[in-house]
Amino acid sequence: MIRDVSQYKDNTVTIGCWLHNKRSSGKIQFLQLRDGSGFIQAVVVKSEVPEDVWEAAGKLTQESSLYVTGTVREDTRSKSGYELTVTGIEIIQVSSDYPITPKEHGVDYLMDHRHLWIRSPRQRAILVVRAQIIRAIQQFFDERGFHLVDPPILTPSSCEGTTNLFHTKYFDEDAFLTQSGQLYMEAAAMALGRVYSFGPTFRAEKSKTRRHLIEFWMIEPEMAFVTHEENLKIQEQFVSHIVQSVLQHCSNELEVLERDTSKLEKIRAPFPRITYDEAVAFLKANGHEFDWGEDFGAPHETAIAEKYETPVFITHYPTEIKAFYMKPDPSRPEVVLCADMIAPEGYGEIIGGSQRIDDPELMEQRFTEHELSKEAYQWYLDLRKYGSVPHSGFGLGLERTVAWICGLDHVRETIPFPRLLYRLYP
Ligand code: 4AD
Ligand code: MG
Repeated sequence: MIRDVSQYKDNTVTIGCWLHNKRSSGKIQFLQLRDGSGFIQAVVVKSEVPEDVWEAAGKLTQESSLYVTGTVREDTRSKSGYELTVTGIEIIQVSSDYPITPKEHGVDYLMDHRHLWIRSPRQRAILVVRAQIIRAIQQFFDERGFHLVDPPILTPSSCEGTTNLFHTKYFDEDAFLTQSGQLYMEAAAMALGRVYSFGPTFRAEKSKTRRHLIEFWMIEPEMAFVTHEENLKIQEQFVSHIVQSVLQHCSNELEVLERDTSKLEKIRAPFPRITYDEAVAFLKANGHEFDWGEDFGAPHETAIAEKYETPVFITHYPTEIKAFYMKPDPSRPEVVLCADMIAPEGYGEIIGGSQRIDDPELMEQRFTEHELSKEAYQWYLDLRKYGSVPHSGFGLGLERTVAWICGLDHVRETIPFPRLLYRLYP
């Protein structure tokens, strides 16, 4: 693999790869090769290779596949520090008319060719960072006594309200694609103590913004005997860990993405906290029209986040605008023990979380107020009946986190094959 060439200095290696780009000066051909693990320049010198090798190099077009054989040379001018002096080329397939050329293409065109676009250095870098973020997430929880639990994808009822559910038939019954695994994770926390899920979630949101996907991946930890305050501490350590892990392992990719890493280096716990009330007061003082009881939109979140270099928690939202399961603040029941974590640089909400209602009567009351079927959720109500305990959890949106850490304009590039409002292909 190209990433391992440093171990083969002055040795001859054979690598399966694709031609990314080529330059020629008549007597020398410079091949930019990629194999997924990295990029390397291979040099073919006419006077030093057999005729057929020179000719094979000449036939190579963008994205042609080949086995290249050559000697690994240290080369301080090249980015990887190494170069390949070619001695042999075995063409696997010559690729003709590759649709993505080095010239600029429009986003729709690139999205139509997403299956090929992901080969480009920038898209590859994003997907590598995404994989590292997932690794860091699993490492964080696995090292802290959490167990991975997988909630179902097909569900009989909703978690985050009924407005954006994907409906499907489940034989003769109605079913919905999950919006969040949380309710099941609450059951799992009562069985395993500290748990987290990591899986796809679906929201039929008719919003076409740079922060919304129809299918996105969420990490949802749920913790028995953990209160609102501890929940926030775990979240800030968690997000700091993710960012520091990417800085440590993905410096090449962040460079390809031209990410200003000095901004990421500042992401260390603790994060500032402001209440919803304070956020509203700040917005009003800064010329925003905003009434207590409204939910924040993207411009509001951005205005608040601009004050800070790290993510910021907004806590204690009005009970009315938040989900039915959130625990009211005992000293002020009109607000709930919840927090949204807002990322810096205008990336908006990356985490939503709360302490959950553990009192059976209050939960029953919420079911009545929200017109939820006690029959459909009997199992969930059981959790408040058989040894109910204080517990909390949160959900981190993976794609928004990738967009922020990579410094991208839009979440569509953060997932291999995005599902967007008007896009189900490829
Ligand atoms: O705030 P949300 O809706 O919270 C929940 O679903 C809770 N049940 C989580 C929990 O407590 N277990 O969603 C959580 C996060 C958001 O902060 C955001 O990062 C992401 O999921 N998210 C989306 N990401 C991309 N596209 C969408 N349409 C998203 N909707 C939410
Ligand atoms: Mg939310």
